[in-house]
Amino acid sequence: MSTRIIGSSWSSVDQKFLLSTEQKPPWDSNYITAEYFETGRQVLGSIQQNLYEAGKRYLHVPELFCDSIVSPFIESGNNWNVSTYPLNLNLRPEFETFNIPAEQSADETVVLFISYFGMIFTNKEISYIENLKSHGITVVFDETHSIFSNQEISADIKLASLRKLLPIPDGSYLISNRDLIAPTQKVPQKMNVWAGIEARDLVFSGLGTIETCREIESKVEKYLTNKSMASSPSLKSQRLIERFDYEYLGSTRLSNYVFLYRSITDIDISEEINESFVPSHFVIRPSDPKKLQLDLAKHSIYCPIHWADSSYRFLHSSKNGTLLSIPIDHRYGDDALKRISEVLNKHKTDSSIPTEIVPIYI
Ligand SMILES: Cc1ncc(COP(=O)(O)O)c(C=O)c1O
Repeated sequence: MSTRIIGSSWSSVDQKFLLSTEQKPPWDSNYITAEYFETGRQVLGSIQQNLYEAGKRYLHVPELFCDSIVSPFIESGNNWNVSTYPLNLNLRPEFETFNIPAEQSADETVVLFISYFGMIFTNKEISYIENLKSHGITVVFDETHSIFSNQEISADIKLASLRKLLPIPDGSYLISNRDLIAPTQKVPQKMNVWAGIEARDLVFSGLGTIETCREIESKVEKYLTNKSMASSPSLKSQRLIERFDYEYLGSTRLSNYVFLYRSITDIDISEEINESFVPSHFVIRPSDPKKLQLDLAKHSIYCPIHWADSSYRFLHSSKNGTLLSIPIDHRYGDDALKRISEVLNKHKTDSSIPTEIVPIYI
């Protein structure tokens, strides 16, 4: 069985995942077009400044997040009051206990939602969100994990970092009503952000070393992470965004998810799945995520833990660091999935490290 690395950073995309002509990507509607940036952080930076200038002061975020979502607000120098709202174990907002304090007026308040790992919101959840909007609260929707899903949520502002689920090094979008967010001034991109992907291609073709590749990837990531000024994504990424075969990329994730689910639980969930749902990853909640992560890495399977404890202590959540996401994207088929399920099944039978599958997305 091959031991090819599973879960590495992107290499160049195979032509078979591209359409022959340019198409509108699934998130782009006819009446409001998306504005593109290099990173999700840059989009959030632009949202932050616009909303602050419009008098917003309070930001509510779900209790599981990575710092890059809140730091554009907290580090802005503006006087934001950031707090978290609770999620249940399936990462769904606990609307019943989520109250906006009386001293926070609706027109100063912003609530951000995340469609974790492709999650589809129920009708009841959507009516809670509609209710917030009808009271004048600004709703921001982070669809980074659900760019392949087909659920239309009427948020005031939508955003996604595209470089997480698509094989491109940069790219993110902002969709909003122009009354709320003005177009952002952009500076030219100052680095070849494709250098990491080019270096990984060289490793796969036997012409480059993994050490050099990782060094270059980390230089690109540092450049993108530390950049406060906004830029448009590289021309190459912009072109690819209009050429990806989203239907194919999405259906591969879904069938890989169903395959892994069945090989670990013996349950075929294909009939139960919401027709709009496209999972971004196969997510599990192991009792010891770090131990499982290390064991998977010994089998050349690299999976991130979601997410490290926030560096903002006042936003601490017990949900940080509890989930592990297994890649199920277009690069993987039956061989890779069998390798993954063998390791997971071994853990399931080892009573010292039980591995619970988290069926949160159906
Ligand atoms: C859900 C979500 N939104 C936004 C971001 C920020 O994206 P970027 O890394 O492109 O700045 C991240 C980063 O991990 C994320 O997980």
